[in-house]
Amino acid sequence: MRRHKILVVDDEVPNLRLLRRVLSEEHDILEAEGGAAALKILKDEDISLIITDQRMPSMTGVQLLEQSLEINPDAIKILLTGYTDVQALIDAINAGHVYKYIPKPWDAEELKLTVRRALEAYELKENNDRLVVELSQAITDLESVSVGTIRALADALDAKCDYTAGHSLRVSRFAVLIGRQLGLSNDHLRDVELGGILHDIGKIGVPESILWKPGSLTPEEKAIMSKHPVTSAEIIGDLKGLWRAREYVKHHHEYYDGSGYPDGLKGDAIPIGARIILVSDAYDAMTTDRPYREAIGHERAVAELKKMSGKQFDPAVVDALMAFIGDDGREIDRVLAEEFPDSFIGLTLPSVDPAQTGRQYRAEAARRARLAGSEAG
Ligand SMILES: [Fe+2]
Repeated sequence: MRRHKILVVDDEVPNLRLLRRVLSEEHDILEAEGGAAALKILKDEDISLIITDQRMPSMTGVQLLEQSLEINPDAIKILLTGYTDVQALIDAINAGHVYKYIPKPWDAEELKLTVRRALEAYELKENNDRLVVELSQAITDLESVSVGTIRALADALDAKCDYTAGHSLRVSRFAVLIGRQLGLSNDHLRDVELGGILHDIGKIGVPESILWKPGSLTPEEKAIMSKHPVTSAEIIGDLKGLWRAREYVKHHHEYYDGSGYPDGLKGDAIPIGARIILVSDAYDAMTTDRPYREAIGHERAVAELKKMSGKQFDPAVVDALMAFIGDDGREIDRVLAEEFPDSFIGLTLPSVDPAQTGRQYRAEAARRARLAGSEAG
């Protein structure tokens, strides 16, 4: 056992000296002749154990111990008392303020033993507290590693296809707003945000010739493309704390009527975050240019969402999107201009204009197509 600081409190100095003599071999003893002096020492020193007399003129031992809780709640408390103070003793013990009481006159060996036991209990608690702090630190570290990993993954996709990063961020943004509209808990919202960022990360595994194809895809190309949700989920893998986001990502192409992929899930069997990401994704895809077509504009996008509500899309999710972008899309610019004040993972929207990046995306696709054509020719 290490050396501890023990505070002894008694209005009679000879008693203080006696306590010091018995205990000072193994520990550092600090003396106070009354409650006020004791409280001052408690403020200045890191005290492990308080031993106080009950009967003192200006403040009783029990009162002192009660007040000590505010300064040093962890110190172990021992009350020295005569048999006449039974009621004070019972009160103190019932209030949980006292570890042990020692009747006066006390026996030196017995006191030493009690002090040793008390300090063992103190060290045990100290150890437990330290473990709790270390554990929560470890969990925090793990989470920041995860967010760091996510950013790295998103950047990798960004490098492959400039357009996608802005897309994923907008999908993530819309998804959080829809989730909030639907009353999701913060835990779910965080995972919806993560899922929005990562939903298309599996496209890293799709050849660029397919990603940038200006026309519609062949059945074989479609089959390759439709693997991306599962690939996304695999990339997220078993990262602790991301299991729900992984499910959202894996199922973000499931349709409400069961006609989607990869598992053909239907209705409420599709995780709510996946239903949200699907609608966010569809809306953003329709309102920005794609290699194979130009943006169709907000009004037509809304009409399409409503038409497919109950078929592709969960009607409640479509309604929630309408609630904050407005039927005529009046609010969309405001939504996109906003920062991410409520981001759970510290994301910010890049200052890119979706329409412009969409056009760039389309132009780049056309350029690539020309290059491929001239190479072939
Ligand atoms: Fe997707």
